[in-house]
Amino acid sequence: MVTLDMIVQYAKTTGFIYQGSELYGGLANTWDYGPLGSLLKKNIKNAWVQKFQRESANNVLLDSSILLNSEVWKASGHVGGFSDPLTECKSCNQRFRADKLIEEHDHSVNADGWDTDKMYNYLIENKVKCPSCGKTDFLPIRKFNMMFQTFQGVVLEQANQIYLRPETAQGIFIQFKNIQRSTRKKVPFGVCQVGKSFRNEITPGNFIFRTREFEQMEMEFFVKPGTEMEYFEYWKSFCMNWLTNLGLKRENLEFDDHKPEALSHYSNATTDIRYRFPWGFDELWGIASRTDYDLKAHQLHSGENLTYLDPDTNEKYLPYVVEPAVGVERLVLAFLTDALDEETLDSGDTRQILRIHPALAPYKAAILPLMKKEHADKAFEIYTELTKYFDVIYDETQNIGKRYRRQDAIGTYLCITVDHDTAADNSVTVRNRDTMEQVRIPIKELRGYIEEQSKF
Ligand code: GAP
Repeated sequence: MVTLDMIVQYAKTTGFIYQGSELYGGLANTWDYGPLGSLLKKNIKNAWVQKFQRESANNVLLDSSILLNSEVWKASGHVGGFSDPLTECKSCNQRFRADKLIEEHDHSVNADGWDTDKMYNYLIENKVKCPSCGKTDFLPIRKFNMMFQTFQGVVLEQANQIYLRPETAQGIFIQFKNIQRSTRKKVPFGVCQVGKSFRNEITPGNFIFRTREFEQMEMEFFVKPGTEMEYFEYWKSFCMNWLTNLGLKRENLEFDDHKPEALSHYSNATTDIRYRFPWGFDELWGIASRTDYDLKAHQLHSGENLTYLDPDTNEKYLPYVVEPAVGVERLVLAFLTDALDEETLDSGDTRQILRIHPALAPYKAAILPLMKKEHADKAFEIYTELTKYFDVIYDETQNIGKRYRRQDAIGTYLCITVDHDTAADNSVTVRNRDTMEQVRIPIKELRGYIEEQSKF
């Protein structure tokens, strides 16, 4: 099992993820995605859009603003209630999320839905220790609002105060009517959105698992009231299949159905898909049946009628919503954790290998001239042609064995070698990352071959 330190180290040295602002001593809990990390993120987002929107006939895309009218966040309850329980160690003054302290103290406890008194009593009665100094003396818990505030325009006054969105979902709810009217979609239909969200988390950490700036992929699926449980179950399995089809091991995934008493006020069913991260199972993907809470809140607050008129039955209603919401960075961490491996070969040598699904691999193929002097021109010509369709890489330095190892370590699925026979038979040798088997493929068939191999 790989450790978090191994992944952090690997991500930095290979060019997946660097510390943010490192040159200036860093900015706590910020991360930059390097050449490989950017490609991996792009591929994850593409794979999500492919299945949740392109291949799901009822679903459309939205790209809404990060900055929204502050009234949106008042209506949604974020201004008043988007807070985490904050406590402080009296001895060392470190601040913590009380629910996380409790859950780390006893992994069998889920403090979701507990009020602040219940959490505080638990900390006292169970003598929970401060993770920083080891003392057991905490200040009473207060609510800490996680909204990032900023000001729009040139005058820093209250009237101009706005927020960076803490989720992409509300951007969808407030455009529900426009989307439905302009696309003439009939309920049930879904709106999918990928974009940045910001939360002033009390205790960010575990590398890219919990950060203050992150990307979400959310879908709001609008359904007729009374049918939401059927769609809730449908999207639960859809999400799980999406993960396992992309190669995550099923034994590293579990559903965590929330107990009725732990449900958020807007939800009548919620489950988390949890992944076995290096520190244990933790939330990867939240799937919630949100009732008509959000549309109702925006209807009330804006004064606009958001009801849907069913053209077949003439019924009028506010749709209910099923929402699968996942963070791109958590997926990056899960895919790296699952795929990073070290293999001992028959020769006794070891090779590092990232066994990531080819649809997600930063590079689908590496194009390698066997001998730089003799084969570089042809190899570069093939590389140039393939760049029109795929992310591929050209590598001519060091011997072929070392180049194979380098590509294995960053997950490149195929190595395409131009060799002595290429000029005569217009073919190349294609080596598979996982099996290391080699086949001979005509150059003109390479595009179709790569496409077939990286299908998902
Ligand atoms: N609209 C519902 C919503 O935002 P959430 O459970 O708060 O629900 C959904 O967030 C997903 O977004 C989480 O399951 C997680 O994958 C990701 N996420 C949330 N907060 C995050 C953070 N601080 N850092 C990284 N990812 C985060």
